[in-house]
Amino acid sequence: MKILVIHGPNLNLLGTREPEQYGSLTLEQINNTILSRAQKENVEVKIFQANAEGEIISEIHRALGNVDGIVINPAAYTHTSVAVRDALLAVALPAVEVHLSNIYKREEFRKYSLISDVVLGVISGFREQSYILGLEALIHFLKNNPQT
Ligand code: DQA
Repeated sequence: MKILVIHGPNLNLLGTREPEQYGSLTLEQINNTILSRAQKENVEVKIFQANAEGEIISEIHRALGNVDGIVINPAAYTHTSVAVRDALLAVALPAVEVHLSNIYKREEFRKYSLISDVVLGVISGFREQSYILGLEALIHFLKNNPQT
């Protein structure tokens, strides 16, 4: 089983970026946690971060035929990007949307996601643990719904 984890814009600055919202772990520390959990589950994980919308879209396209599912934190594009939504629809891979912060507890504009109705589900508000929960949920789904 192979899973792609995508981090959207500004998440490269984790560790120093608004720690009261996103916690104090760096992206590298979060990635190491994801990789060690994946290893325990015997799952191969590829991790990708980009600030540019087009790069994220191209990575979603590349996922087709190469991975079994996607865990994505679209960051600010969650609330703005029809293009990321359309890319997920186009590849039609099982995907889970994750957020470090609880987007429903923040500004009004963050409460709306253009992504949440085209993914299996959403995990929001558990800081770095959101990625682990998202990964576990996706692995569970893929084991119970093997591709034909
Ligand atoms: C975020 C929430 C978004 O609203 C924000 O733009 C981010 C990070 C999160 O992980 O909590 O950059 O996706």
